[in-house]
Amino acid sequence: MRLSFPDLNILQPVIPEANSMSKQNEVVVSEVCDGALSADDLNQLAEMLDQAVAQGASIGFIPPFGHQQALAFWLKLIPAFTSGERRLLVARLNGKIIGTVQLAVSQPANGIHRADVNKLMVHPDARRLGIARSLMVAIELVARSAGKTLLVLDTISGGAAESLYTSLGYEISGRIPAYAMSTDGELEPTTVMYKIL
Ligand SMILES: CC(C)(COP(=O)(O)OP(=O)(O)OC[C@H]1O[C@@H](n2cnc3c(N)ncnc32)[C@H](O)[C@@H]1OP(=O)(O)O)[C@@H](O)C(=O)NCCC(=O)NCCS
Repeated sequence: MRLSFPDLNILQPVIPEANSMSKQNEVVVSEVCDGALSADDLNQLAEMLDQAVAQGASIGFIPPFGHQQALAFWLKLIPAFTSGERRLLVARLNGKIIGTVQLAVSQPANGIHRADVNKLMVHPDARRLGIARSLMVAIELVARSAGKTLLVLDTISGGAAESLYTSLGYEISGRIPAYAMSTDGELEPTTVMYKIL
């Protein structure tokens, strides 16, 4: 059974002065079930990925990279979202996707208790508002509901995400030097982290 997070809506206006306004400016975190992404959704996800790469995020891609490559990335994942092999969460503001994270739940037979957290990203215009934190809280609920007791991820060492994960109770299992190439061609270390649920 999939969660829909009726209680988990952040209800956190992205526009601070709109605090007392209607639901129009509330951020809602939800799961995209069965890969049900509209063409608009796919374009918004692609735009977010494209912008993250352009800004130097260590998220699997390096320039030259553009909207078409970003779109291809998302399209390729649809079968995994549809089959439930991967779970996809999005944060929306007024219907527009402003953040996302994935949980790779399909694991080898001896690792069915664990899952990998992947591709956390938040639209550049919506950062430092707690969106990523809310997505991570939500993905943990998805993991628990899927019977997972261990979450694993890696992130560029010393980056913004490392402090987020630490604050959410992830432990550092180690750092791997020269793990991923940055957008300027340097090899950078990654921090491997885990959380026991
Ligand atoms: C990393 C990222 C997802 C954070 O998203 P966000 O919505 O801005 O994060 P939040 O507002 O939930 O921040 C939660 C905490 O993370 C840490 N954090 C987030 N951005 C930070 C930054 N730029 N510098 C330092 N710490 C940062 C802080 O501890 C923050 O808590 P605080 O705001 O109370 O200080 C976002 O910057 C992003 O999309 N980056 C590009 C993609 C990427 O690198 N993804 C990580 C893949 S492992």
